[in-house]
Amino acid sequence: LQLAVLASGNGSNLQAILDRIASGALDAKVCLVLCNKPEARALTRARAAGVAHLALSPADYPDREAFDAAMVAAIRAHGADAVALAGYMRLLTPGFLAAFAGRVVNIHPALLPSFPGLCGAADAQAYGVTLAGCTVHFVDEQMDHGSVIVQAAVPVHPGEPLDDLKARIHAMEHRIYPQSLQWLAEGRLRVEGRVVRVLPRGD
Ligand code: GRF
Repeated sequence: LQLAVLASGNGSNLQAILDRIASGALDAKVCLVLCNKPEARALTRARAAGVAHLALSPADYPDREAFDAAMVAAIRAHGADAVALAGYMRLLTPGFLAAFAGRVVNIHPALLPSFPGLCGAADAQAYGVTLAGCTVHFVDEQMDHGSVIVQAAVPVHPGEPLDDLKARIHAMEHRIYPQSLQWLAEGRLRVEGRVVRVLPRGD
């Protein structure tokens, strides 16, 4: 799997992906880490891992289409054919998604379709659910909306600090995201309407 990872911030999911590749559990190469913020820690992580990385600033482009076209060009130039969003805080344009049709995935810190948006974990806690979690899904033009690949649930403990819940969710993200990418690498994800089927190995 020739992968581009898009990130805006800390990049702990990027790190989990890089670590799984290094350990041999994920059969992929991160060809490029792309950030829309030059201060993103994800860039430091890419540098430390010896992975190509680039920060593009939306302010340098006339509109979203032009910015996303520049990202598509950079991703292609680095030989990636699949895209993993890892804390990438912008909506992708239809032009970007068409360039990597069926090959763009995201991780969200809630059990979709509940609690899409910027604060999945906080919203779940505030709502009072007793199970929270995270979702890996294919990306479509709507935010946190595409077909679900895999989800993991964690308990919400009454009265606990939000950061504790977030840490529990993050730990799960670091397990299910590399796993999903390995399924993608193996060609085992079949989208049937809204539903994604994970094919058995060797099918
Ligand atoms: C994660 O919680 C992910 O679900 C969401 O953004 C956060 C990114 O965290 N999309 P990190 O930058 O990978 O640590």
